[in-house]
Amino acid sequence: MKELEFSNANALVVGHEQIDAMLDEARQSLEKVEKGTGAGNDFLGWVNLPSEISASLISDINETARKLQDKCEVVVCIGIGGSYLGAKAVIEALSDSFAAYRHEPKKTKVVFAGQNIGEDYLFELLDYLSDKKFGIIVISKSGTTTEPAIAFRLLKNKLEERVGKEGAAERIVAVTDASRGALRQMSDEEGYKTFVIPDNVGGRFSVLTPVGLLPIAVAGYDIQALVDGAKAMEETTRSTDYATNPSMLYAATRNALYRAGKKIEILVNFNPKLHYFGEWWKQLYGESEGKDGKGIFPAAVDDSTDLHSMGQWIQDGERTIFETVISVAAPEHETLIPTDNDNLDGLNFLAGKRVDQVNKMAELGTRIAHIDGNVPNLLVTVPALREKYLGELIYFFEKACGISGYLLGVNPFDQPGVEGYKRNMFALLDKPGYEKESAAIKARIAD
Ligand code: PA5
Repeated sequence: MKELEFSNANALVVGHEQIDAMLDEARQSLEKVEKGTGAGNDFLGWVNLPSEISASLISDINETARKLQDKCEVVVCIGIGGSYLGAKAVIEALSDSFAAYRHEPKKTKVVFAGQNIGEDYLFELLDYLSDKKFGIIVISKSGTTTEPAIAFRLLKNKLEERVGKEGAAERIVAVTDASRGALRQMSDEEGYKTFVIPDNVGGRFSVLTPVGLLPIAVAGYDIQALVDGAKAMEETTRSTDYATNPSMLYAATRNALYRAGKKIEILVNFNPKLHYFGEWWKQLYGESEGKDGKGIFPAAVDDSTDLHSMGQWIQDGERTIFETVISVAAPEHETLIPTDNDNLDGLNFLAGKRVDQVNKMAELGTRIAHIDGNVPNLLVTVPALREKYLGELIYFFEKACGISGYLLGVNPFDQPGVEGYKRNMFALLDKPGYEKESAAIKARIAD
């Protein structure tokens, strides 16, 4: 099968001349990522991660996953943001769409918690687990994030009630900092198996560390193939030419579009299994670029579903958008549309065709319609939703994100803006140490 391909042939408002004129800038941005000469260069551990990950770490992760699978019908993966979205995206892309409803006694289900503070969500999760053998993967780089900490407290209590403290310690794995944070301290005291999130890899770039690899392995997928795909893309994207470096070309094109007034990028899929890939991508680009009053707003749609809700806006609304379509060349299964003797729906002209043929024509027809509606259209084609190609796709977007952030003129590796809500929440909840902030915010809302 062919590998990932990127095309900017329909960038419309920006032509080859503009993109070619950015070549030096794009090369300098690539060099900042490769050589660590730009802002935030202490967070570039992800750049060589696929080629540097050791065979012993992969086998430790696989072995730990097997132990959890042996003991647990369900593993709850606790984490938020970069400590959740990568694993969720890959597992959803590879899973049977109805896995959650299937009764498969020999297969460990992976469910997620700590990605919200929904009381009903947590109540219903605890209720669901009440007759299941379960384990926990708790993931937090800082080890102090509120959402996962609340979920972990609840689930740890439940597990200890069920199997005792020692039994719980055999079923809990923590992924956290090597030495800092409450989760590290707790893990050392309780004797949990742990994996380390490298200091120089930020949350949203951490899917190819144990943060993503452990849950993906527990869900039964081939993490070596995922890493191999990323490794191939790591090599490809060292090239300093647009023709051979798809990440550099994508980064330059989206920045050229931004400079031409296209402020919103919509990531489009025509495969519902990619919904969470869109969520992962939104965090990657949103947190990396939305700062200093700048940044392309990352949005995502699942088509053809969303053509029936967002299609009108995309076709005909304010012309400040562009689309990047992820096209999956081949589905995993074949389903043919049957003939119907009555043909009341008039669909017999499709009889004998694969459902995917219709989907592909919906995809092409939509792209042409949106191009006609002056929406620049970028295209990423992947051969199939398999581990190797997902690894390529992940690394393609990560590398492009680093280059793109430097082209935009921001530090792509910090996220100072995410602290604002936490400060207010802690002040409103009277967290010790926040007395001054509490008084100020309460006076403000009393007005
Ligand atoms: O990308 C990021 O840095 C964030 O999304 C973090 O991953 C998220 O806030 C979770 O942080 P932590 O892993 O420290 O709990």
